[in-house]
Amino acid sequence: MKLLEEKIRQDGKAVNEHILKVDSFINHQVDPALMQDMGREIADHFRSRGITKVATIESSGISPALMTAFALEVPMVILKKQPSKILNQDLYQTVVTSFTKETNYELTLSKKYITAEDHVLLVDDFLANGEAATAAIRLIRMSHATIAGLGVLIEKSFQPGREKLKSQGIEVYALARIGKMAENYIEFID
Ligand code: G4P
Ligand code: NA
Ligand code: NA
Repeated sequence: MKLLEEKIRQDGKAVNEHILKVDSFINHQVDPALMQDMGREIADHFRSRGITKVATIESSGISPALMTAFALEVPMVILKKQPSKILNQDLYQTVVTSFTKETNYELTLSKKYITAEDHVLLVDDFLANGEAATAAIRLIRMSHATIAGLGVLIEKSFQPGREKLKSQGIEVYALARIGKMAENYIEFID
């Protein structure tokens, strides 16, 4: 998506070869009009697939997921992070290890909101190592729902996320794909 690439060039900051800051329009301050355009773009890509729910991981995934769900006219479900395991019969739970943040957390989903009848589209802001997305897929599969794919705003293609998801049979659709970064340098791939 050219619009997002231009916005990243203009207002994003490549901190080093690994980390891209997009705090002024995605992660901290949010540009609603751009977010709506991006949600619509993801929705259009997956529109014919019979999606019944859009799911995301709190917190930065919520804005793109909400706009995607709005465009598809389906509910959005937020997978919630908890610092440690609590026993609860009403929840599906799985552990996530974040390499970037060097922490573990529990990802949870109420059994009420995704069921075996659902066909779920996952949406997130970044695809990096794919650990969070893999955990989200694990969680959704516990409910016996099916997964339509993963839509992300920004894929860092030099990290293994896409490969990891592909090996699980998950289609990835990314609005911007970054092939290479360095301090104040960004290379997009098509
Ligand atoms: P993974 O989920 O793809 O395996 O990624 P990883 O553990 O490496 O990433 C952990 C967190 O860091 C995720 O957010 C992810 O969105 C974010 N992240 C990864 N690379 C970048 C980057 O280059 N720039 C920015 N701004 N964020 C990045 P999170 O911990 O789930 O938190 P939240 O921000 O969604 O609340
Ligand atoms: Na995120
Ligand atoms: Na994030």
